[in-house]
Amino acid sequence: MFTIRRLSKQFLTCSVISRSYRYLSVGAASHKTATEELQPTINIIKEDLQLIHRDILQHLGCYEQELNELAKYHFDAKGKLIRPMIICTMARSFNQQQDNFLHENQRCIATLGEMIHTASLIHDDVVDSSDRRRGKPAAAVQWGPKKAVLAGDYILGISSVLLARIGNSDVVSLLARVIQDLVRGEFMQLSTKESDAEQFQDYLNKTFCKTASLFANTCKAAALLGNLRDINLNQLADYAYEFGKNFGMAFQLIDDLLDVTSTDDDLGKPATADLKLGLSTAPVLFASQQFPELQTLILRRFSESGDIERAVELIDQSDGKARTYHLAQQYANEACRILSEFPQSSNGSNRFLNYLIYLTQSTLERRH
Ligand code: FPP
Ligand code: MG
Repeated sequence: MFTIRRLSKQFLTCSVISRSYRYLSVGAASHKTATEELQPTINIIKEDLQLIHRDILQHLGCYEQELNELAKYHFDAKGKLIRPMIICTMARSFNQQQDNFLHENQRCIATLGEMIHTASLIHDDVVDSSDRRRGKPAAAVQWGPKKAVLAGDYILGISSVLLARIGNSDVVSLLARVIQDLVRGEFMQLSTKESDAEQFQDYLNKTFCKTASLFANTCKAAALLGNLRDINLNQLADYAYEFGKNFGMAFQLIDDLLDVTSTDDDLGKPATADLKLGLSTAPVLFASQQFPELQTLILRRFSESGDIERAVELIDQSDGKARTYHLAQQYANEACRILSEFPQSSNGSNRFLNYLIYLTQSTLERRH
């Protein structure tokens, strides 16, 4: 029986990630030792996230009682907040040379990252006719699709006001690009390419648009808004983008893997949802290289009776899950390699870079 934990043990022992822990004074630390070592940093980021949560609820408040409730509905304690976590940590790593503070505009980028992401999920549940989100009924189920779509638009509207207030046109372009990519990605997955080579490339492009673009562009924005005065700031901000991109690709590949390995309860949303929606993600695309009969099912988007069960059976018999995990690991390794290009802290602690490495490793081991 396949489990992510089994695979992660097998692959992580020889990965760049464990070597990247050279920043930590404990060297190639065990996960537990690393967590203890990082605890003060984890606490700092936890406080950032509490402020962000408070800010979001404040920004979304309005006098229309129903809209007020609906817009805030999915910002409860159940979200993983992985986007603001990564953005705040990246932002702080760019400030560390001169101070340890998170600047207000950087915190605003982390807030916007979570708001744009959640608005897109509210819309996504309408597009996917999905019932559950973050362990409870989707907004579209509670209020109906029309009001849910408008609530997503409202959250985007508030986000645009906050973005304009930052007053930096480069940053406005980066965040506008995120929204453009989210829509393009969602649109791309409404159709299926004919050939298997095109299908995989299309899947990677879609994964970048739907997930990695937000990590990449917000990390870059947070870097640009830091206090680092370095003649190479633009290049360093590009490294922040590359980190976010590779982290985001790894994160989504694991998400797609969990979709075929976890239960509804683990995920807080329906499992095998991708196949049920007619979507082909990495596990089934890799499996189809071993079992060409899957191509017929992929092309008709698993629409006939028994298609999903047969696809699950063939994925289980193939090395599709292991190859998906391995690809996620390659992106994660590249994300950690890029961090070595970042400016080192003058006091030698590199605590925020270490935490980014830790978060990257944790994303490979997550269960939901
Ligand atoms: C989740 O996909 C969906 C996204 C990451 C993006 C959805 C984007 C749109 C609906 C376009 C509109 C965008 C905005 C900004 C309003 P999924 O279905 O693979 O994941 P799930 O299992 O969590 O539903
Ligand atoms: Mg969905």
